[in-house]
Amino acid sequence: MSETRDCCCGGGGVTNSEDIKTFIKEKYGQIAEHAAARKETSCCDGGTSKDAITRDLYSDADTAGIPVEALLASMGCANPIALAALNPGEVVLDLGSGGGIDVLLSAKRVGPTGKGYGLDMTDEMLELARKNQAEAGVTNVEFLKGEIENIPLPNNSVDVIISNCVINLSTDKDRVFREAFRVLRPGGRFAVADIVLTKPVSDAVKMHLALWAGCISGALEMSEYKTRLLRAGFTNPDVEVVKTYSVDDAESLVPDDAIRELGEEGVADLMGSFVSAFVRAEKPK
Ligand SMILES: C[S@@+](CC[C@H](N)C(=O)[O-])C[C@H]1O[C@@H](n2cnc3c(N)ncnc32)[C@H](O)[C@@H]1O
Repeated sequence: MSETRDCCCGGGGVTNSEDIKTFIKEKYGQIAEHAAARKETSCCDGGTSKDAITRDLYSDADTAGIPVEALLASMGCANPIALAALNPGEVVLDLGSGGGIDVLLSAKRVGPTGKGYGLDMTDEMLELARKNQAEAGVTNVEFLKGEIENIPLPNNSVDVIISNCVINLSTDKDRVFREAFRVLRPGGRFAVADIVLTKPVSDAVKMHLALWAGCISGALEMSEYKTRLLRAGFTNPDVEVVKTYSVDDAESLVPDDAIRELGEEGVADLMGSFVSAFVRAEKPK
């Protein structure tokens, strides 16, 4: 069942799941094109500079040998490779791989006997990721077109699922968790970075299309994240906060129309409502 409900919020408002998906594809398609043209990108402004969520996620040592276009297209909220503790020979799947940065970093860790899959629904991102792969000269990687709600891989075929700031964008997260569980091998790990809510957000925030595509409106509350992972069959779910945001970050994260609509108090409340987090869980052996 979809998580959005019909709404008549007018310009910029969520109307249904398909609208959200179309908006996300358009937005991230543009960001991929900006990155391919070597302009810096941002989750919120469609492509001029990194914002408070997406900046400073990787060390220079991490990104040695990664093409600049992959760094420019990077729109995660933390570094899932630091969380995942990947081993040589493992198969890794990145849900919503964007320009490919985390898949290329994973490929280094799992080595020639392992494999990295990236899955994304946006053609421009897939094109950029494949270009970045060729430029980096990495062969143990494959970028797949598809949706994270319907993963195009067989049952029990993946050791580790990573993802970076994507699951919040899905309008059917239960299906994402069921699919992640299905493709993981028994004993496999779910190790993702995501935006999570520390308290509920207002309906005005939930129904704001740009805030949804900017990774905020669709985020789950921490306890809800764990409950849904358990419901999908995972064990030992854990949510660890890695970054918080302040009112000063609103300028780069909250579109002008939302700032006007929410008012000073509403914006302050919103900025204290979400964090970047590592989310871990396991598929039982
Ligand atoms: C915020 S960006 C993150 C990209 C990448 N993980 C990174 O760290 O740079 C979101 C990406 O997820 C993709 N995406 C969003 N929803 C998706 C879905 N339901 N299925 C597949 N890809 C999706 C978008 O096309 C976009 O490339």
